[in-house]
Amino acid sequence: MTATGAGLPFGIDFGGSGIKGAPVDVARGEFATDRVRIDTPDPSTPEAVAEVFASLLAMFPTSDAPVGVTVPGVVVKGVVNSAANIDKHWIGADADRLFTDKTGRDVHVVNDADAAGLAEVRYGAAKGRRGLVIVTTLGTGIGSALVYDGVLVPNSELGHLEIDGHDAEKRAAASSREREDLSWKDWAKRLTTYYRKLEDLFSPELFVVGGGVSKKSEKFLPLIDIDTEIIPARLRNAAGIVGAALYATETSD
Ligand code: BGC
Repeated sequence: MTATGAGLPFGIDFGGSGIKGAPVDVARGEFATDRVRIDTPDPSTPEAVAEVFASLLAMFPTSDAPVGVTVPGVVVKGVVNSAANIDKHWIGADADRLFTDKTGRDVHVVNDADAAGLAEVRYGAAKGRRGLVIVTTLGTGIGSALVYDGVLVPNSELGHLEIDGHDAEKRAAASSREREDLSWKDWAKRLTTYYRKLEDLFSPELFVVGGGVSKKSEKFLPLIDIDTEIIPARLRNAAGIVGAALYATETSD
């Protein structure tokens, strides 16, 4: 490893307000240098975002190591197939090809929650856990990653389960607590309904809860009334970048 991170895979976390990236030491699951943040452009079309990725990568030494990018949507073979909380131009975009062309790097796009899930299972809260681990991210929406014996089953999209006639993330994401000014207790009731549904469907060994609000997990995790073990994520806001870089490393040929 060099002090500049040259030669190491790079992770980019594409979020609603910021685009953050850093070279990643995938042996340790850590940033190799400080991460850089650039505001997300508005509108955040794939082309506009690709320009930002190119500028961000240009701040680091030239490298031919792969780049992983998180996207908050379904990703199949590098093509984005849904856009619940992002610019609708993403639907159908061949993101791997667009970003590879724009940056000159070998770019691999991965669902944001899948990246976080991989990182938590490999390095974080669920390290070494076998069986079915479900990692959920509570933010603007609800992201999910299903990981069985350490292997990711991508694009589970469990934030969009229909519960009592509602899209689950509209009722139980962290944004719904803020939007409706819910107390922690009232929000935890909704989360109980949500995680009970996941228990009924999947009988997991463990739930890991990520997303920005997991910093305050002591305020709501103990109030979630379910039978399965449920613990906070450990990598916090590093999970997207680290998971994306790991994904790119394992996906590139
Ligand atoms: C999207 C998922 C994403 C999650 C978290 C959902 O609305 O459909 O793909 O993982 O939000 O960003």
